[in-house]
Amino acid sequence: MPIDGAPSAPSPHALRARALMPNDPLPGVKNIVLVMSGKGGVGKSSVATNVAMALSRAGYRTGLLDADIYGPSIPTMLGVTGRPVSMDGKTIEPLARFGVKLMSIGFLMEDPKAAVIWRGPMLHGALQQFMKDVNWGELDFLVMDLPPGTGDVALTLSQQIKATGAVVVTTPQAVATDDVFKSVSMCKKVNIPILGVVENMSWFIDTAGVRHELFGKGGGQAVAEFSGAPLLGQVPLEPAVREWGDKGTPVVQAAPASEASKAFADIAERVVLACEAAHGEDEAGPTIDRSGGPGGKKRLPVAK
Ligand SMILES: Nc1ncnc2c1ncn2[C@@H]1O[C@H](COP(=O)(O)OP(=O)(O)O)[C@@H](O)[C@H]1O
Ligand SMILES: [Mg+2]
Repeated sequence: MPIDGAPSAPSPHALRARALMPNDPLPGVKNIVLVMSGKGGVGKSSVATNVAMALSRAGYRTGLLDADIYGPSIPTMLGVTGRPVSMDGKTIEPLARFGVKLMSIGFLMEDPKAAVIWRGPMLHGALQQFMKDVNWGELDFLVMDLPPGTGDVALTLSQQIKATGAVVVTTPQAVATDDVFKSVSMCKKVNIPILGVVENMSWFIDTAGVRHELFGKGGGQAVAEFSGAPLLGQVPLEPAVREWGDKGTPVVQAAPASEASKAFADIAERVVLACEAAHGEDEAGPTIDRSGGPGGKKRLPVAK
C-alpha cells in the first residue's frame, strides 16, 4: 500500500541489486539490511522478524539471519526448533517458516538456553559461515538481526559484504538513544549507509483508548536527525507483539490488522524504497573500496 502519496515500492522483479564485493559470499542476494542498535532490549529482533515477515508477505523473497550469536531470539520468535541439514556435505540448508528462510546459531546449539561462551574469532567464524556456507539462494532481501553493541560485528560484515544499509532501532527515551548514537557513528565509520531509524515502543493505548507515552518521546526523531536518515516509522507498545513473539508467530503474520503490524508493514515498504534510493546513491557517489577479502587491500575506510 502506498504511504502518504509516496511512490509505492517496486515489484520484486524490478528491484535493483547491491554492488558485490570481490569474493562476495552472497552473490544471489539483492539487498542486505542490517538491523542494529547499540542497546539491547529496544526491539531489534522484533523489528528484524516482523519487517522480514512483512517483506515476505509483500511478495519479496526474504531471508532472516540471526547474527546475535550471544542471544539468538529468532528460533523463539519464529517458533522454529529444527536442525539445519546439509544435502551435499558442504552447504547448509536454511530452515524456513512462513516462506522466510532462516538461520540462527540457536538452531545449532544442544541447549538453546545455554550461554554461548565463544570469543571474538569464533563469533566471526560462525557469522562468516552463516553467509558463505548457508544455501540462501536467490533473495530480494536478507535481513540480519545484529547483536547489541555491534561495533565488531558491523566491522566484520563491512569487510566481507556490501550491505545495502542499516536500520537503526531505538526507543523514545534519551537513555536508549545515547548508545544508539554510537552505533550510528560506527556505521558511518565503516561506510554502512543508514537506511533509516525505527522508533519502537513509542506509545501505549490503554483499554479506554487513552494514549500514554510511557518512555517519553523524540528519541527516534533525534537519532534520525543525527544520522541524516529518515524516521521510517514508530511502532506502538502492544502486548500482542511480545505475546505472538513468544508464541513463535510474528504479530505481522498473526494479527496483520493490529496497529503495530500496520506500522511494521509500512516500515517494510519504506525499507524497500530506502534500499532503492541507496543503490541510486551508489552509482552517483564515489566508489568506496571496502574489500578486505583475499587479494583485496585490507584497507578500512577512514571516518569522515
Ligand atoms: N512494540 C512492542 N510492543 C510490545 N512488546 C515489544 C515490542 N517490541 C519488542 N517487544 C518485546 O520486548 C522484548 C525485547 O524485544 P527484542 O526484540 O527481543 O529486543 P532486542 O532484540 O533489541 O534485544 C521482547 O520480549 C519483545 O517481545
Ligand atoms: Mg535481539
